[in-house]
Amino acid sequence: MTTTAPGIHRGLTGVVVDTTGISTVIPETNSLTYRGYPVQDLAARRSFEEVAHLLWYGELPDPRQLAEFRARERALRPLDRTTAELLARLPETCHPMDVLRTAVSFFGAEDPTEDDGSPAAGRAKSLALLAKLPTVVAADQRRRKGLDPVPPDPGLGYAENFFHMCFGRVPDPDVVRCFEISLILYAEHSFNASTFTARVVTSTLSDLYSAVTAAIGALKGPLHGGANEAVMHMLLEIGDPRRAQAWLDEALTAQRKIMGFGHRVYQHGDSRVPIMQDALDRLVARAADPEVTRLAALHAALRHAMVQRKGIHPNLDYPAGLAYHLMGFDIPAFTPLFVMSRITGWTAHITEQLAHNSLIRPLASYDGPAQRPVPTPS
Ligand code: ACO
Repeated sequence: MTTTAPGIHRGLTGVVVDTTGISTVIPETNSLTYRGYPVQDLAARRSFEEVAHLLWYGELPDPRQLAEFRARERALRPLDRTTAELLARLPETCHPMDVLRTAVSFFGAEDPTEDDGSPAAGRAKSLALLAKLPTVVAADQRRRKGLDPVPPDPGLGYAENFFHMCFGRVPDPDVVRCFEISLILYAEHSFNASTFTARVVTSTLSDLYSAVTAAIGALKGPLHGGANEAVMHMLLEIGDPRRAQAWLDEALTAQRKIMGFGHRVYQHGDSRVPIMQDALDRLVARAADPEVTRLAALHAALRHAMVQRKGIHPNLDYPAGLAYHLMGFDIPAFTPLFVMSRITGWTAHITEQLAHNSLIRPLASYDGPAQRPVPTPS
């Protein structure tokens, strides 16, 4: 941890900037609740669509509300031709997060409806983003392989439809459920960097699309959402469980950050990890493949070595990274999967910020040159 002068809160560490009724992380008990419900219970018993409804409306939907919510989401999934053509023209060298960022910005430019800042207007735009982002992510994954997009299927749930659009088929319900659990766990996490970014943009009374575009930029970084991709690159770099300890020793000596470990808020382990690890274990068991078993052994060995050596525990990106690999997604698509989920949390926070807005504008302690005269040009 970098030391700073008294009164300076670099990284806003430990600073409480506002109230929120959306979720709470309790570091002492390593727990997380969405609108009061423990996340492990939501992951065990509810669908991602129900969790989205909970985050936006404050309550789980009743059966009629859920049916209506699902019908509206399914109807909004297709992309119009202009968007599809624009996205198809982006260079394949750009990261899929750049594609998503561009897509959201373009949706904003195309949306003719007025953004009056009301919760109803915000929720309508949020639902359209929730519905369309998977279509963008799936089409982008396929075009990088020279494949045509697979249109969304309104007969399928959110998670199932995403597999259908990526691969042209839906895997076993077990695999779909593991993916859905990752979406529930990634949905919301209080004032993390990308959510706070969305709140900062919203606090200027800018529009929802600008706030989400900025949040995508913040999530892309490897210290935040980009870590799930970095985890997989790291596991492939190490390659063998027998190398885990030596690789870790070398990496720590070189002062490298070990991706998928550590957390600003949790000190003794991320509350979401046991749930995601359990889903990952199920994926490993059903694969019954020596290569997968080897990767899982490496994953476990590195985790053990890191906890032993540094006492630093994995965060959600650690099990999620390997789980997404086993589900068949390409590594550069991992952080976009996070966006497909966190769009719910971001937009819930945008609505909350507007409900009791105050421009977010911290102060800085100046440590540049003392005031001095501007030299006359010679
Ligand atoms: N690897 C090696 N050392 C670490 C790690 C890590 N992953 N995480 C923390 N540390 C060490 C730091 O080197 C530092 O040690 P020091 O005091 O001897 O200098 C100490 O622990 C504190 O670390 P900071 O980076 O100052 O803690 P901070 O709260 O700022 O960082 C962060 C949190 C950014 C998540 C950090 O743990 C990290 O970089 N992790 C790797 C990236 C990652 O996995 N990000 C995903 C976050 S969760 C999410 O977005 C779902």
